[in-house]
Amino acid sequence: MKDNIEVLITEAEITARVNELAIDIAKQIDNDWLVIALLRGSFIFAADLVRALHNAGCNPQIDFMTVSSYGDDTESSGKVNINYDTKAEVKDRKVLLIDDIFDTGRTLSATVELMHQRGVTELKTAVLLEKPERHEVDLKADHVGFQIDNKFVVGYGLDSVNRYRTLPYIGWIRGDK
Ligand code: IMP
Ligand code: MG
Repeated sequence: MKDNIEVLITEAEITARVNELAIDIAKQIDNDWLVIALLRGSFIFAADLVRALHNAGCNPQIDFMTVSSYGDDTESSGKVNINYDTKAEVKDRKVLLIDDIFDTGRTLSATVELMHQRGVTELKTAVLLEKPERHEVDLKADHVGFQIDNKFVVGYGLDSVNRYRTLPYIGWIRGDK
């Protein structure tokens, strides 16, 4: 499978950056926080990040959500399809949202809006990747692992039609735009 893929960010680079992110995040959150990983794309990043948080002295609670932003509607704020919801009640909680990639930003922005509607008291966001050229929303993620060019990437949890999630690095498929 690897022959097909051009490596963009190596496994070692990801590990080093995830550890740096955890050290930064651990300065801002404590064990009272609830971490919500947005599935499916963030599952590997979230798994590594929360263990790095532990190593940085921080042990928050963990939960999961699967969301998708509404179609191509530019007015996506607060409009999010919830395919799987958190077990935990988020009202009056401090929440760290983790996602794989900030592309247009609609997913994260709509989820942030939803969290506010549900009464979170404090909110932070962390994404592994960001494509600055693609931003369509005002929101900025609080923690960003890597900024990348406007290319479709796979690996480390990110998929193309549910393939390539297993790659331990981030790359792009040769021949893709
Ligand atoms: P948004 O455009 O920021 O709302 O991103 C929506 C979702 O599209 C992300 O959470 C990813 O799951 C997916 N996505 C966006 N860009 C890529 C990519 O380059 N590779 C794989 N998935 C992507
Ligand atoms: Mg996603």
